Amino acid sequence: MTTRRPFIGGNWKMNTERASASSLVRGVIDGLVGLQGVDVAVFPPFPYLLTVGSILRERGSAVRLGAQDAYFEPDGAFTGEVSLAMLRDCGVSVVLTGHSERRHILGEGETIVHLKTKAVLDAGLECILCVGEKLDEREEGRTDSVNEEQVRLGLRDVPAEQVDRLTIAYEPVWAIGTGRTASPADAQDAQMKIRRVLTDLYGKDHASRIRIMYGGSVKASNARELFAQPDVDGGLIGGASLKASDFVAIVRAAVAGA
Ligand code: PGA
Repeated sequence: MTTRRPFIGGNWKMNTERASASSLVRGVIDGLVGLQGVDVAVFPPFPYLLTVGSILRERGSAVRLGAQDAYFEPDGAFTGEVSLAMLRDCGVSVVLTGHSERRHILGEGETIVHLKTKAVLDAGLECILCVGEKLDEREEGRTDSVNEEQVRLGLRDVPAEQVDRLTIAYEPVWAIGTGRTASPADAQDAQMKIRRVLTDLYGKDHASRIRIMYGGSVKASNARELFAQPDVDGGLIGGASLKASDFVAIVRAAVAGA
């Protein structure tokens, strides 16, 4: 670990219903009472943001409310889309961009990812920009060049003064939801190289403050070893964030590894 404060996100994806979302966030809040030294956010589906947000507020929780996606235009005829102003109005403070499921299942290309990332940061919110290579790209030895390209294109024209609100999530696509986790050494190697790109873009001071999460089949049993790596500043958790006790154990592993 590092001097950077670890950051753990629970990406619920298209899971939960109103009642289960409520009990999940209550379990997370209860499990984290008194725990310090870590930032935690949950990313419920859009329809449950208000419900989950009001439970967090009622309980005075430091867990932050995140959104899994947002549209980059401020308003208008964009059927089905959700603006950053709407999300902010619902209590959201952090937004994911470039998640591999949006890139590879919903077909978002680099232009969209870039516009969304810019819009989140321009709106004064925090952004978690997700990057990562597919299996064939890894096998062709292109992991680092894919990550570099996604970081550079995602952050085009993003000024240095905004990057203190930026987190990168390195999520190798072949590790997401598959039970196959990158080894701690592979995660560290990729993330160290991503930090080099950030250093080239923003200088050492800024780059050394930007948190880089790892995501892809993080579980309570492998979290500690991953988070112990110097450039792994926490994790973006999918499947294991759907059970409060598992997610809480992962958050605790980040504190233990700090
Ligand atoms: P997973 O998902 O933990 O289920 O692999 C991670 C993510 O998609 O953020």
